[in-house]
Amino acid sequence: MINRRDFLHQGTLGAAALFAAPKIGWAGASTSRTADSRIEVLFDEPLGTISPNIYGHFTENLGGVFYDGIWVGEKSPVPNIGGLRKSLIEHMRRIKAPVIRYPGGCFADSYDWRDGIGPVEKRPRRTNFWANAESNQAPLNHRYDPNTVGTNEFVHFCELIGAEPYLAANVRSLPASAFQQWVEYCNSPAGTTTLADARVAAGYPEPFHVKYWGVGNESWGCGGEFTAQEYAVEFRRYSTWLPNYGDKLNLVASGPNTDDWSWTREFLEEVLRKGPGELRRIYGLALHYYSWNLSRGKTQDWVAGKGDALRFDTVDWYELLREGERMENLVTGHWQVMSEFDQEHLVKLVVDEWGPWYRPGSEATPGDLLEQMPTLRDAVFSGMTLDIFNRNPEKVAMANCAQLINCLNSLYLAHEDRFVITPVGHVFELYATHQGGQSLRTIFSAPDLHYERDGSPASFWGLRGSASVRGKTLTLTVVNPSTSEARMTEIDLRGAAVKEANMSFLSNADIHAHNTFDQPNVVVPVTKSLSFNQGPLVVEFPPASVSALNIQLE
Ligand code: AHR
Repeated sequence: MINRRDFLHQGTLGAAALFAAPKIGWAGASTSRTADSRIEVLFDEPLGTISPNIYGHFTENLGGVFYDGIWVGEKSPVPNIGGLRKSLIEHMRRIKAPVIRYPGGCFADSYDWRDGIGPVEKRPRRTNFWANAESNQAPLNHRYDPNTVGTNEFVHFCELIGAEPYLAANVRSLPASAFQQWVEYCNSPAGTTTLADARVAAGYPEPFHVKYWGVGNESWGCGGEFTAQEYAVEFRRYSTWLPNYGDKLNLVASGPNTDDWSWTREFLEEVLRKGPGELRRIYGLALHYYSWNLSRGKTQDWVAGKGDALRFDTVDWYELLREGERMENLVTGHWQVMSEFDQEHLVKLVVDEWGPWYRPGSEATPGDLLEQMPTLRDAVFSGMTLDIFNRNPEKVAMANCAQLINCLNSLYLAHEDRFVITPVGHVFELYATHQGGQSLRTIFSAPDLHYERDGSPASFWGLRGSASVRGKTLTLTVVNPSTSEARMTEIDLRGAAVKEANMSFLSNADIHAHNTFDQPNVVVPVTKSLSFNQGPLVVEFPPASVSALNIQLE
């Protein structure tokens, strides 16, 4: 039996046989105008401000994420800005990417940031954390890190996008002083320290003002195999008397894997052993949750339990969504445990790795480690997950989809001069206006979906989403998970009136639909204006769809 911890440890990538799945499509839009569902947006029940950082990203020095994905090199014929892929920067600006996590992931706890500064030609080549897992098809720089991309290049990437950098420090294999000096390199003003001089010499006179810092990654696994108590002691040590140069440092502690409630409990218990004030040093507790087990309860084996990114039937479609749905319980469950120790809620949840994880075999670029092909199913999954975060704004301060490009639930795929926005990338575009909005309690009433799961009846909810308001604009995002039925839905705004409205949605008659380098526009948003006659807005949500309604209020 292999679990994620063993997998990461061994670098094992087992390929399993693919199975053929029938094509399932939508027979056609419902022609009936009778609403079968209802959405009520309650303007007098605000839930809290949606942190823009919930729409964050994760980039690890892994496979083709950096070398080929983000970084093409200054001399590359691929359009770039200082070596960084231009088309990627442009789209990330469009989706208002707020924060980007780097350099890992597991890579972070083997990385020495000092290797990635100074003249590029003098930077050392190092064995990448993921080297053992790389296939023979992978280019050399995926296995042996040339350090061409380091802190300067990454922060430049963030600046070009307008995003905050979120750096993960190495707790497993570097001392606390290295963390302190990384902060010094990034944030000390020009002329004050030797490391500031080094930054200035590299062409960056202004401090980077890095505000978000991870203290290790998955410290229960690849980040050191610590117990929660051991890690809490390390966390206190690494976070003590960090220089701040006037910037507030928001420290993210390595948190639980999935439903490991005891990690959350024991970590906080141990941190607090030193005194109640200790909580003030923690900005967030990182929760990691991947939806990987599509075996329908048959196995917990990390390799055998995986499903296929492209070949799946309707039951697999719902199975992924059921796995994704667990996120809501994980957020509320860990929050409940945190509440036992932190009645003031000083510490928030930072879901800095989330997304589906399939078996290998669907890579757009053969040889790219952990790369998979996102389909409409992943778009629906991602919309559903972002809605969960929107509905819990007081609990979730940040979330980072794993991972940005050429990896797991990627928004983009790129290879050399080819670049494509995946259905997941389009979901982030549709949801961008939620950032900074006031989340409103919203009631979704729709018939449950019924299907057969291995000979037994199974059901799944029929319609869900989230709503937020900013000034006179309401954003309502809605997921229809049904593979075959449209939902005719009456939308009631309790406490506001519609002036005008439009809707953008992603859907396709084929639930496997995805965008490739050759066919980049198979799943793209369609926008239409919505007409209404003083009465309630009635909207048809196509089957297998993610929609965003942009409603201007009177
Ligand atoms: O995202 C891939 C890996 O998954 C990350 O490196 C690690 O943190 C997690 O286990």
